[in-house]
Order: sequence, then structure tokens, then C-alpha cells
Amino acid sequence: MDKALIIYWSGTGNTEIMANTIAKGIEEAGKTVENMSVNLANTDMVKEASYIALGCPSMGVEELEEDEMEPFVESLKDIDWSNKKLVLFGSYDWGDGEWMRNWQERMESYGATLVKDGLYVNLEPEGEELDKCKDLGKVLVTE
Ligand SMILES: Cc1cc2nc3c(=O)[nH]c(=O)nc-3n(C[C@H](O)[C@H](O)[C@H](O)COP(=O)(O)O)c2cc1C
Repeated sequence: MDKALIIYWSGTGNTEIMANTIAKGIEEAGKTVENMSVNLANTDMVKEASYIALGCPSMGVEELEEDEMEPFVESLKDIDWSNKKLVLFGSYDWGDGEWMRNWQERMESYGATLVKDGLYVNLEPEGEELDKCKDLGKVLVTE
């Protein structure tokens, strides 16, 4: 039960870069991590993990991606979140992060504990934003 898991959806690769950088942070903190696109993930994997990072860009109108990520997140509603730690991340463009705030509230309503506020980055992460991604991975597995 000491597993770290990253599950993300990414259309043009920006959120995927965030996922890969969060994975580096987790590994630098001395933990192993599984990092995968949501189409390869299932709810049982989340049940078995202690540390979970979920990523999705802002899509629709400040929404999660509707075909894969939205139903996956819905499937997490009935999981026992009490002994798990969670972070959320994703890329956006023209909005103000509304989708991330809504997603965070939703996960909290499922009983999940977020170790930090959701990390959102404008388009492709660079420089300090990449450092923030790495830190998020470290914080997830050490706090
Ligand atoms: C169909 C579609 C809807 C989008 N809706 C929003 C939005 O509501 N708010 C926003 O800030 N960005 C929106 N974006 C921009 C994406 O969030 C942005 O391009 C992001 O970097 C994509 O991440 P990805 O490379 O991981 O797919 C939208 C993009 C697409 C293609």
C-alpha cells in the first residue's frame, strides 16, 4: 500500500509533460511510481495506491475531458479515500483555473485529502513551472 500512481489525460502533451515531471519528483523522493494515460488505468489501481496524482487539462468550458477522464473521475466516487493522499494537476489556456477549483471541490466531496491545491500551468510547462511539478511529486509522497 505504499504505491504512487499518476493517471492523466492529455490531448496535445502539456499535461503529459506535467505528469512526467511529477513522476521525476516522486522518484527523487525515493518512491516508485506508475505513470499512465487514463485509457490504461482502472479504479482498482487507485484502490491499491497510497499516493495518487490525477491530471487533466481544462476542456469543454472549464470541464474535464468528457470521453475518458470525466467517467474515470466519476468512477472514483465510491473509493475509500481515507488513507490516501491526492494531488491534481493540468494545463489550461485562456481560463482562470475554474475547472481545477471545481475538480478539487469534487474530489474533496468524495472524501479525498489533497496535500496541496491543484497545480495548473498555462499551456506547456517551462522553467519554474517544471520545478513546481517536481515539488508536487515530492510533497505528495513525503507529507
Ligand atoms: C476542446 C478544448 C476546450 C478547451 N477549453 C478550455 C477552457 O475552458 N479553459 C481553458 O483555460 N483552456 C481550455 N482549453 C485549452 C487547453 O486546456 C490547453 O490547450 C491545454 O494546454 C491542453 O493540455 P494538453 O496538451 O495536456 O491536452 C481547451 C482546449 C480544447 C482543445
